[in-house]
Amino acid sequence: MTDSLSVRDNRTGQEYDVPIENGTVKGADLGKIKSPDGQPLAVYDPGFVNTASCKSSVTFIDGDEGILEYRGYPIEQLAEQSTFLEVAYLLVHGELPTQTQYETWEHDITYHTFVHENVKSFMEGFRYDAHPMGMLMASVGALSTFYPDARDIEDDEIRQLQIVRMIAKMPTLGAWSFRHAQGKPFVYPDNELGYTANFLSMLFKMSEDRFGADERLVKALDVLFILHADHEQNCSTNAVRSIGSSQVDPYSAVAGGVGALYGPLHGGANEAVLRMLRRIKDKKNVPDFIEGVKNGDERLMGFGHRVYKNYDPRAKIIKKACDDVFEVTGVNPLLEIAMELEKIALEDEYFVSRKLYPNVDFYSGLIYEAFQFPPEMFTVLFAIGRTPGWLAQWLELVQDKEQKIARPKQIYTGDRTLDFVPSSKRWS
Ligand code: SDX
Repeated sequence: MTDSLSVRDNRTGQEYDVPIENGTVKGADLGKIKSPDGQPLAVYDPGFVNTASCKSSVTFIDGDEGILEYRGYPIEQLAEQSTFLEVAYLLVHGELPTQTQYETWEHDITYHTFVHENVKSFMEGFRYDAHPMGMLMASVGALSTFYPDARDIEDDEIRQLQIVRMIAKMPTLGAWSFRHAQGKPFVYPDNELGYTANFLSMLFKMSEDRFGADERLVKALDVLFILHADHEQNCSTNAVRSIGSSQVDPYSAVAGGVGALYGPLHGGANEAVLRMLRRIKDKKNVPDFIEGVKNGDERLMGFGHRVYKNYDPRAKIIKKACDDVFEVTGVNPLLEIAMELEKIALEDEYFVSRKLYPNVDFYSGLIYEAFQFPPEMFTVLFAIGRTPGWLAQWLELVQDKEQKIARPKQIYTGDRTLDFVPSSKRWS
């Protein structure tokens, strides 16, 4: 037996051997199968449900087993024993840092947390009720105009500097989007604080000299950032790669990733989960709500996943983190509704047959709300966590000799060769 397909094209009687490599056949090899009029065979795969777009060594997921590993390390161990900055280094550089490498990384990121003052006035120009994700998407894109040297994507030193800048500045932009919506003054970074503690300071500091967050909350948010740091070729990473394939600067590519993450089927799901739980209001309403989902009236947000056909390992860890946070903040009353939803859904044939389990977004919003974040901020938190992953994948893309500009085919279903009738005749 060989790793290949033997196919016979019944349109022409031709037979072909198509090699199988890494469990895939190459589109180029399928293209050698021609129709009688010479058209190459292509694959129609909306949403790329069964299409590999790249080779990557950043993140491994086994959806059936509920396994997630960053650069080969199990997410459970990283969440338990590492920090977000160390995981960010691992994702970008492909290995855990030495002490010197980590200290340099932490120093560089700490001292790049400030943004140009023009960014501040740019952000102050948004409406008072602007959604923070819209502000984040726009301000990340705007950074490309402050660092024109970032366009030289072939220069590794320049690439690494932009990666440090973006990881460093995302919390500043995210926190300022939040403060703008609250009508509060922007808080500048405090370089004496760690990455996540500094983010909390820029969010919540008022007139005190230094904002001191509860260490348990800092740790819980750091773990949440780790859990969101990368996730192979998800919708927003695919957007970053697709935009990056045109060889644009990384700020423009990541701004596109923020836009994709904004959607309710992707990163916006955590915000949608909270709104859904609020709408259910009470545990006794859960059975009726589930019936509505099964009738197709709506989706059970925070459930289901393109890859995980088992419990999302991140949801398990987040559920545990809930206990740590609620120890400080008190239990979120919506938790009871969420747990009832999970209990009923996991026993119901509709969800079981479709292998729908809680995903990363199902419980994360409960924690964010306990931090006093409004739902509009939840996806901003997701974006801050995902930034190292987007950049690690972008870096892999720009160095991958097999990659080309993303330009898929289509199946044309429109009219052909119509004769144009000028408006003078059409409207008479
Ligand atoms: C994230 O890709 C990633 O890795 C993403 C992510 C990451 O870290 O980057 O993990 C983060 O985006 C998590 C997903 C957050 N989204 C939600 O929670 C929104 C609700 N879930 C879905 O809409 C859905 O499950 C998706 C979008 C997550 C996955 O959609 P798919 O793989 O395209 O599956 P599908 O929409 O084709 O659904 C398959 C079936 C359908 O039923 P039938 O048409 O076969 O009868 O399952 C049903 C769907 O109707 N279904 C749901 C459902 N999700 C799927 N029914 C009710 N509630 C749901 N949540």
